[in-house]
Amino acid sequence: MTTDLVDLIGQLEHEHVEVRAALARVGELPAGADLAVLTATLDEVAAVLVAGLDQHSAAEDTVLFPALGEGLGAVAETFAAEHVDIRAWRDQLYQAATISERLAAGAELRGLLHAHMEREENMLFPSARAVLGAGG
Ligand SMILES: [Fe+2]
Ligand SMILES: [Fe+2]
Repeated sequence: MTTDLVDLIGQLEHEHVEVRAALARVGELPAGADLAVLTATLDEVAAVLVAGLDQHSAAEDTVLFPALGEGLGAVAETFAAEHVDIRAWRDQLYQAATISERLAAGAELRGLLHAHMEREENMLFPSARAVLGAGG
């Protein structure tokens, strides 16, 4: 069980690398890109930013955080709440009616998700490894 969780943390860290690459693709769109260009880019990164991100945050919410229990206290609730916001901005990025709404959602998503992943990597995952006795 503990070994599985330590492996899961490693997998989550690897997925962060993929998410950063996908966010960079969205962030590097040329100024004045139209909806067709944006949609094509979003399609290319959908495996990471839609299904992948949903699975990723679900694994954190339903497997990692509950397994750590009291070890992380209220910190896990903060991360879980951020997952809700992250998915909402991601949905806006993919579904909003206008390009300006989508680009604004993309900017919000990038800012929130980068900060979120950084805190997971610098604080949450090391604490989780310590709780699991796997070192920090
Ligand atoms: Fe997360
Ligand atoms: Fe994560």
